[in-house]
Amino acid sequence: MAPRKLKEGVFSVGAIDWDRRLFDSLIPLPLGTSYNAYLVQGAAKTALLDSVEPALAKDLFANLDELGLRSIDYVVCRHAEQDHSGTIPAVLQRFPGARVVTNQKCADLLALHLRIPATSCDIVADGAVLELGGKSLQFTFAPWVHWPETMFSFLREDKILFTCDFFGSHLATGTLYADDEHDVYLSAKRYYAEIMMPFRQKHPAYLQKVEAMGPALIAPSHGPVYRRPQLILDAYRDWTSDKVKNEAVIAYVSMHGSTKLMVDRLVDRLVGRGVGVKQFDLATIDIGELAMGLVDAATLVIATPTVLGGPHPSAVYAAYLAGALKPKLRHAVIIGSQAWGGKTVDTLQGLLAGLKLEMLDPVMSKGLPSAEVLAAVDRLAEAIGARHAALA
Ligand code: FEO
Repeated sequence: MAPRKLKEGVFSVGAIDWDRRLFDSLIPLPLGTSYNAYLVQGAAKTALLDSVEPALAKDLFANLDELGLRSIDYVVCRHAEQDHSGTIPAVLQRFPGARVVTNQKCADLLALHLRIPATSCDIVADGAVLELGGKSLQFTFAPWVHWPETMFSFLREDKILFTCDFFGSHLATGTLYADDEHDVYLSAKRYYAEIMMPFRQKHPAYLQKVEAMGPALIAPSHGPVYRRPQLILDAYRDWTSDKVKNEAVIAYVSMHGSTKLMVDRLVDRLVGRGVGVKQFDLATIDIGELAMGLVDAATLVIATPTVLGGPHPSAVYAAYLAGALKPKLRHAVIIGSQAWGGKTVDTLQGLLAGLKLEMLDPVMSKGLPSAEVLAAVDRLAEAIGARHAALA
């Protein structure tokens, strides 16, 4: 992808990863992603903001070549994760005079992960300004947007805020701006759910800081640039708030159909009570979809057969994931089937314990669900419905 101009002297020069389908060997990327690097050319100095995933280094260098760049004065590193920093060593080889401008925590991580020596780095403080000549970058530390070293960079003259992963979306597109708001919103929500949600408590303070800056453009490190910043600011305000929606996520796995009969009954009764249901078959689910469902839901139902004395491994994975992603759930419950004993309920409740939810009474069926079991499922739907009604 050719370099794309945001403003005079400001270019998007990163790479689009159209074909990547998995991030961190964990996160599905159904729509690919991008690694956004930006070039800011002042009258006196030129700064490159971040780099790209090393596998796509050639795209970054092709963009810099196309702009006729002969030197870079600064490589501003705002986040040490390798999808943004991994090509910095190659940039320093290509432009040996360039200094890495970063904060101390980020410099420590660059030394750890990429062996970039401290002698290559100029350390900045929170609030510091890098003057480029008619253009200046102000740095705002934002630790734990998801790593401890992240910092935003505000190009004051053009009011462009570069936010690293914050506000990002895993979306490969040739369109520079987030004008297709529906698609970008969904990709940004998926990104938030998978990457940002565990750090939700930190985000409202950063939202306030961003709003105070009044950016005209928000340029994250993944996905399109927001020229209507309110789109992503409103979305993050919603997702990071404590408000849950009248929604239940039902994550289920069934081996011979008994658990599925219970799920079908529960879904039917919940829908009848006006509860929004998002149902996911753990045997086939893209876990990003499950993570997105957890952003707003008030209740999590994990439904599983008992196999080898405990929950199905897919249910263990879902419970572990929910525990790690720290969604703003209020209630959870385990349902399922078993032929003989097992530790299904204890194991899953243990994995969710850190969320400090109200755990509703489990419903476990011996084999095919009986009329009594289905009546217990009905009572569970009633209990969930009553709690959701109280949310309003
Ligand atoms: Fe896109 Fe935290 O790296």
